[in-house]
Amino acid sequence: MRKIYIFDTTLRDGEQSPGVNLNTKEKLEIAHQLERLGIDRMEAGFPAASPGDLAAVNAVARAVKHATVVGLSRARIPDIDAAYEALKDAQDPCLHLFLASSPIHRQYKLRMSKEEMLQTAEDAIKYARKYFSKVEFSPEDAGRTELDFLCQVTEMAIKAGASVVNIPDTVGYLTPYEYGNIFKTLKENVPGIERIQLSAHCHDDLGMATANALAAVLNGADQIEGTINGIGERAGNTAIEEVALALETRQDFFQAKTSLVLSEIARTSRLVSKLTGMVVPGNKAIVGANAFAHESGIHQDGMLKEKTTYEIISPETIGLKESTLVLGKHSGRHAFREKLQDLGYELDEEQVNAAFSKFKDLADKKKEVSDEDIRAFIEEKLVETEEEFKLETIYVSYGNQSTPSAKVRIVTLQGEVLEQEAEGNGSVDAIYNAIDKATGEDVVLSDYSIKSVTHGKDAQGEVHVVMNQHDVAVLGRGVSTDILEASARAYIDALNRLIEKRSSVSSTRRDKISLI
Ligand code: KIV
Ligand code: ZN
Repeated sequence: MRKIYIFDTTLRDGEQSPGVNLNTKEKLEIAHQLERLGIDRMEAGFPAASPGDLAAVNAVARAVKHATVVGLSRARIPDIDAAYEALKDAQDPCLHLFLASSPIHRQYKLRMSKEEMLQTAEDAIKYARKYFSKVEFSPEDAGRTELDFLCQVTEMAIKAGASVVNIPDTVGYLTPYEYGNIFKTLKENVPGIERIQLSAHCHDDLGMATANALAAVLNGADQIEGTINGIGERAGNTAIEEVALALETRQDFFQAKTSLVLSEIARTSRLVSKLTGMVVPGNKAIVGANAFAHESGIHQDGMLKEKTTYEIISPETIGLKESTLVLGKHSGRHAFREKLQDLGYELDEEQVNAAFSKFKDLADKKKEVSDEDIRAFIEEKLVETEEEFKLETIYVSYGNQSTPSAKVRIVTLQGEVLEQEAEGNGSVDAIYNAIDKATGEDVVLSDYSIKSVTHGKDAQGEVHVVMNQHDVAVLGRGVSTDILEASARAYIDALNRLIEKRSSVSSTRRDKISLI
């Protein structure tokens, strides 16, 4: 069985999804979970993008103990220096250098000839090797690069000292046959190819990212790059969970496997969805809510007789356990602690106490507290952190023949009480207008979504918002049994993140990475 290395870029390419912006604490939380998942390499960010990004990559580099930590860099000395600064404390650092190789990019973006591209990349790899023992090189838009030139680029990268050459299908243009053929051609024609690893990096613009990555495996790729839940630029990247389960389920066909701890997949997917605000569609392969649901009577009948009639992967494989212990308001601390362990949470005493008190509050409102309810408040926020605004009370008046109005009371970090009332064209709009008036923040709400955490009339609602102020975008999340309260909490959460972001990177405008 050949081992396929998994290179996770959720924290870099995944963070390039529109509207996604992770702070250092969130990046660390995801990094720890990625370690539990057993990924081999994790790309933590693009240090040259801003001092904030550099600091976040550095924090991940210091925290991660079992995976290689990778930083992205353009083929420029200041970028490489910034990446070195960010990664120098990592147990096992790696630099990921990229420079576009396709005719379109060479002509319009880089304005470089083939020779100039080769020379610039070679100089950058050689410079990087002075600081990094591991350098991965990506000819950006390799998928649309002349195949003979790609062989030349790969040969140059090997000679200059790269240990991995990655083949990005940057715009998700190729079919599995064509993408697989690139690997076959490189393997057969490039001198020294056996000394390095070849890596696959696919985007999903035509819905072929996973199929292309698997075609690369069949043609000799050693590593697959991707993200959790397939998030990423535009239509996203190869979904790591799809690749892992395809290789696991069809070992007979691929003769290859990963070292992932598959039972951590569901938890990793949930965490990434929560922190990025990117909701996983119900029908998404492996991690969608319906991936293991059987609706048709014929299927249900088959499942009852023999599961393998309609189930090729068991939910337990990815860490979805059937709940045997349902908690309610009479459940005690002992049962609650056991449930936390069962769900895989390792909390300290203070966090267990905070979680137990949230559980008791919820059990007063709901008859049965499900696993999903518990996950929702554990993964929200257990111990109150220092934040500029705290929502104290909220009143809403609504009638279908009157203008909705809301009154909010917010307490600032300095103890100032802000109370305001406002009207709106709906209850949520009225709440948000009242919060704007109270806080004096001038923001634009660019996205609002609500979903139910569980089923039933007493289910908790989870609200995600995306808020913009000038060119800064932040996410906010709120959970409550009342959707208006969840909406208010999400908005306040976003405001707090905005303020944190403004103060930490006010000097360093951080745009989405421009890959030029
Ligand atoms: O898709 C792409 O080309 C990239 C590179 C930076 C590797 O993400
Ligand atoms: Zn990419």
